[in-house]
Amino acid sequence: MSLIVAGVLGYGLGSVPFGLLLTRAFGAGDLRSIGSGNIGATNVLRTGRKGLAAATLLLDAGKGAAAVCIARLLPHGTFADGADGATMLALAGAVGALVGHCFPMWLKFRGGKGVATMLGVALGLAWPIGVLCLLAWVGMFKLSRISSVGGMSAGVAAPIAALATGHANMAPVLVLLAGLVLFQHRENIARLRAGTEPRVGQKKDAA
Ligand code: G3P
Repeated sequence: MSLIVAGVLGYGLGSVPFGLLLTRAFGAGDLRSIGSGNIGATNVLRTGRKGLAAATLLLDAGKGAAAVCIARLLPHGTFADGADGATMLALAGAVGALVGHCFPMWLKFRGGKGVATMLGVALGLAWPIGVLCLLAWVGMFKLSRISSVGGMSAGVAAPIAALATGHANMAPVLVLLAGLVLFQHRENIARLRAGTEPRVGQKKDAA
């Protein structure tokens, strides 16, 4: 029962579209008709409002971390197969948060790409996993100057980081979440293959 509560709670938190709400509240327009149309921090940056982009990044990551940390506090025991109850609940909160961000019911299930929320989830599950994801994100972004390359790298890094830091029990769920992050980037992947994915700071007409 607690697993369902954790997932629903995670979904509720994850589905809050902070980028959309902030840009609307501060008169920066409707994100869905700007740049890539995504509701994440990268697209908020394309409005020219750096402060709003930073706030979106922090809040989208924060909701992921909060979902995991709150879920972990729900009543639990040891599951029948000996799995640690708190970890199971934290993972359910993580799945809920990422699904909520990517498929929010308030936006007809058309949400974001999950990178910032994945970072928050990773930090909440175990900070070394989050730090390694962050390093992958920063490193690959610095090399490519392409936001989606950094973002996808952070997602893919999560299960690898879990294995590398002694959290192998989290790796299967993180593989699924990394898959979701990649799926949400399918248009970016198509543009990368076509060589038309914009670099940050580069002007673009579409995408
Ligand atoms: O975090 C989202 C990023 O990876 C890609 O965003 O707007 O360039 O599609 P965008």
